Order: sequence, then C-alpha cells, then structure tokens
Amino acid sequence: MRQTEGGVMIEGPACYAELGRALMGRGTVVVTRDESKVFPGAEVARNLTQALAVAEGMNWAGPTWITGGERIYAEGLPWCSKLYITHLERDFEGDRYFPLDWKRWFSRCTWSQKGQEGDLSYRFEVWET
Ligand SMILES: NC(=O)c1ccc[n+]([C@@H]2O[C@H](COP(=O)([O-])OP(=O)(O)OC[C@H]3O[C@@H](n4cnc5c(N)ncnc54)[C@H](OP(=O)(O)O)[C@@H]3O)[C@@H](O)[C@H]2O)c1
Repeated sequence: MRQTEGGVMIEGPACYAELGRALMGRGTVVVTRDESKVFPGAEVARNLTQALAVAEGMNWAGPTWITGGERIYAEGLPWCSKLYITHLERDFEGDRYFPLDWKRWFSRCTWSQKGQEGDLSYRFEVWET
C-alpha cells in the first residue's frame, strides 16, 4: 500500500470500507453508482472512465492506482501499464477474484522476490505490458 503514496487510488466502496477511511498522503476516488453513499476524504465517480478523469484532475504528482475490488480490477487492467501482484503459495477460499486472464494485459515480469510471513510463503512480482 505504501507504493500508492503521492498518487491517487481508485477503489470500490467495499475496499474503502475495508480500509475504514481514505488513506493519508494520497488521493482517493471511490467508484459507485449509488448517489446516496458518502466517503469522507475521497472524491466520488459513477464509473471507471469518470474516476480516471477525476484522478487526473487531482493535485497529486504520483501515478493513478487501480486498487480493486473485483469489477474495478476487471475494467481497470486494460488501462494499466504496470501490475504489482503478490502470489500466496497456498490456496484460500474466496468470494471475490482477481481477473484470471490478467496475462492478456501484462507480458513481462520485471521484478520478482520471494518472501515468508510465518508459515506462509509468497512471491511479489511487478509485471509490465
Ligand atoms: N487483497 C487485495 O489486494 C484486495 C484488493 C482489493 C480488494 N480486496 C478485497 O475485496 C473485497 C471487495 O470486493 P468487491 O469486489 O465487492 O468490492 P468493491 O469493488 O470495493 O465494491 C464493489 C462495488 O463497487 C462499485 N462498482 C464496481 N464497479 C463499478 C463500476 N464499473 N461502476 C460503478 N460502480 C462500480 C459497486 O458499488 P455500488 O453498488 O455502490 O454502485 C459495487 O457494488 C474487500 O474485502 C477488499 O478488501 C482485496
């Protein structure tokens, strides 16, 4: 998450709720069709195209980050030039999924590093188009 400092995060309402607030030190745009929802500290957009335009107009020098959830990733990946992804070396039950076909948009792995957190192994990678 620290990578996003100085830039703008585009996220859905569930992601905003999970974080509990707009993170300090970066801009946040929440994408929702529900006009009654409020997100303190964040801008609001009705769709991803609008969210990208809002992010462009905000006063942050860093990149715009697509930070989920499921549909925002699915719609946003074609717009991205880099993917920062962590592969957990174990299977988990889930009800939200990252697009299985993400390699359609990213062909070169430009950084890879293994890590360990307790008994959980993971691999952090950066992919580029
Ligand atoms: N591990 C990770 O890296 C990671 C990353 C991201 C998320 N997550 C987790 O995944 C879960 C969130 O999943 P989610 O996919 O349900 O959450 P979400 O994307 O945060 O929220 C889903 C909502 O986003 C809005 N939305 C999505 N696409 C839209 C579009 N194109 N136009 C307008 N509104 C749109 C809709 O809200 P309205 O119904 O209000 O219109 C939709 O119900 C959370 O638990 C989060 O922590 C994990």
